[in-house]
Formats: sequence, structure tokens, C-alpha cells
Amino acid sequence: MTVVIAVPGTEKHARDLATRLGATVVTPEIRQFPDGEVYVRIDADLANHEVVLVGSMHGGDKFLLIAFLAGTARDLGARRVGLVAPYLAYLRQDTRFKAGEGVTATYFARLMSSTVDWLVTVDPHLHRLDSLDHVYSIPTAIARAATSIATYITSEIEHPILVGPDAESVQWVAAVAAVCKAPYQILEKTRRGDRDVSISAPSGPWNGHTPVLIDDIVSTGKTMIEATRQLRAAGSAPPVCIAIHAVFADAVNDELVSAGAKGIVTCDTIPHVTNKICVADSIADAVRARLG
Ligand code: R5P
Repeated sequence: MTVVIAVPGTEKHARDLATRLGATVVTPEIRQFPDGEVYVRIDADLANHEVVLVGSMHGGDKFLLIAFLAGTARDLGARRVGLVAPYLAYLRQDTRFKAGEGVTATYFARLMSSTVDWLVTVDPHLHRLDSLDHVYSIPTAIARAATSIATYITSEIEHPILVGPDAESVQWVAAVAAVCKAPYQILEKTRRGDRDVSISAPSGPWNGHTPVLIDDIVSTGKTMIEATRQLRAAGSAPPVCIAIHAVFADAVNDELVSAGAKGIVTCDTIPHVTNKICVADSIADAVRARLG
């Protein structure tokens, strides 16, 4: 039997997954001691069960909580403990750009690999690493958002042309374009700092196409904002922006609309008001394959 345990903040994902798997959802008791340390209790029979922890890793470090829940589940006799992280953090620092920097993608993967037995995530930010296997030593599987995004574009946007704002976005843009049979182009991004990017000019003519900017993450929004400026300067219609992971480190919408975008929609890997694209089916398929 499979038991799904919701890490706080990811209750909807846990319910969506449990419904699709025909599993039970357990909400753990979690609170802080007065000194800030974390108390964890799972009031359920987990003996010999497959346990699936569900927790997106945005907005701070959820690792300790996941480690405590995994440890508790094992102590209660779980057969295996897997993690569904709809958004998987710590993948962008996958190399040392300056002397002395920590390669946190590697350290985080090592910690996680010694904590859970398997991992499922949605479209992780693989850039210089072409597979999670380079850093994770446990079995991993990737659920793809491409079909859900393509379904959204087909039903909401007439005559789309897909645009990726930087070289690594080709993996997401090409996958969506293949499903919705739309043309696409990929721009070039130069990053000078966390909030300082420049993006190359796109090429028209637009022939009545609506540009759809697609990226995996929107964080400060500077990538989407600068790409929008370039599209509008090149004479395009207002682009629709689509991101898989709604990280939103900054409030983005006003600046994006002032830059000339129609608006932004996101997949529901991280709960946010812009979530319009559900990826629960894809996650459930990946978990089913993992559970066997
Ligand atoms: C990195 O290159 C990613 O694919 C995104 O383009 C990036 O994380 C977006 O960050 P921001 O919203 O801060 O420009």
C-alpha cells in the first residue's frame, strides 16, 4: 500500500497525487519548539508501506523537514521512502564560476541521495549537467510539463510562435513546439548579475503570430521582462509568458506588463496566483513507474 505524506505548503499536490494513485494522504504534525527547532510526528501505520513524501522546495530550505519526515517514516517501518519535489531546488549552481564558490547542486544532491530512496521532479533546471544522474546517486525520474503547456497554448492562444529566452530553454520550448506543432526560435541571454540580463533581438516578420515566451523558472522576472522588451522592439504582438516553476523571488507582473507582455501564466509546481497549467497527471505517471 502507498501512503502520501504532504510536506507543509504542498497539500494540494499530495491530494492530487493520492487521488491519481488511489493512495491515502497523511498530514504530519509539524510545529516549532520555542527555540525554533522542528517537531515532527506522523500518526499513521506505515509498516511495510511505500511512503511518498510530497514537497516542493521553494522559498527557503525545506531539506531538514524532508529529512526528519523521511527518518520518521523509516522508523515507523516504511518499506521505501520516495520524494516528489514538483520544484527541485539547488540546480543552478552546477559549476564553479568564480574561485572559492560552492557547487551547491552537487552538495544538495548528495544530502538528498542519503535521505530518500528515489526522487521524482518536474522539469529540473538541467543546463551544464545533462542528467540528474551526474549528481544524484538514487534513482530519479523527470515528469514533463510539455504536454500540459501545449494543451494550454492550443486552447488559449491563436497562431502561436514559441520563443525561448536563452540557450538552455531550447529543451522546454522544442518539446512544447513538437506537441502543439508551432514554430519556435531561441534567443541568447547574457547574465551579468542576479537582476541584470541582456537578451538578443528576435527575428520577425511575425505574420500575425502571437509570441509565447517559455522558460523553466521565473524568479526575479528579469529574463522574461528583457525578452518581452526585445520582442516588442522587434514589432511583435504582446507576448504571453509561460513559466514552469513560479519561483517569483520578486513581484514581476507590473514590470512585465509595462514592458509590453500580455501577462504570465505558470504550471502548478509551486503554488502561486498565476498557476493555470496542471501537471498532476505527468507527476502521477512518473511516480507509478517508480513504484512499479
Ligand atoms: C536560468 O537560466 C533559468 O532558465 C531562468 O531563465 C532563470 O532562472 C530566470 O531567472 P530570472 O527570472 O531571475 O531572470
